[in-house]
Amino acid sequence: MSSTTERSLVLIKPDAVRRGLLGEILSRFERKGLIVEALELRTMDESLADAHYAEHVDKAFYPPLKEFMTSGPLAALVLTGDSVIEVVRAMIGATDGRKAAAGTIRGDLSLSNRENLVHASDSPESAERELALWFPKL
Ligand code: PPS
Repeated sequence: MSSTTERSLVLIKPDAVRRGLLGEILSRFERKGLIVEALELRTMDESLADAHYAEHVDKAFYPPLKEFMTSGPLAALVLTGDSVIEVVRAMIGATDGRKAAAGTIRGDLSLSNRENLVHASDSPESAERELALWFPKL
């Protein structure tokens, strides 16, 4: 199999920080062999939320999602590694923690489709867009 080193924008969400799961989640990524290229504890403001979730702003679930995502500090990371986008999506599991497979981060640690602990870029195009929003100098 060919090897492709990529970057992904990963957010360890405010519920994870509040629940003291930051170390557990970071550790899973590190143990997998992914590299933390950047890491910042930040609180998302409303304009960054609207830009980050541009494709969802008109959806009914967006207002409570925005309220949650701006409710406290989160950890924004740039992870790099072979096929990191696909690898991280597999590690976090399905959107809804109640349905995510056991062994995934959401499957093991979340019971919600809003407070689901982690966001990760879902394609090279979304990674490029999200990295430019969160880490414009990288
Ligand atoms: S979609 O519509 O299939 O594209 O949505 P999905 O990719 O599954 O989810 C996009 C983000 O929206 C969040 N989400 C929700 N938040 C609150 N309430 C409800 N019902 C809900 N459904 C989806 C979901 O956690 C995703 O957040 P990110 O940060 O992208 O993981």
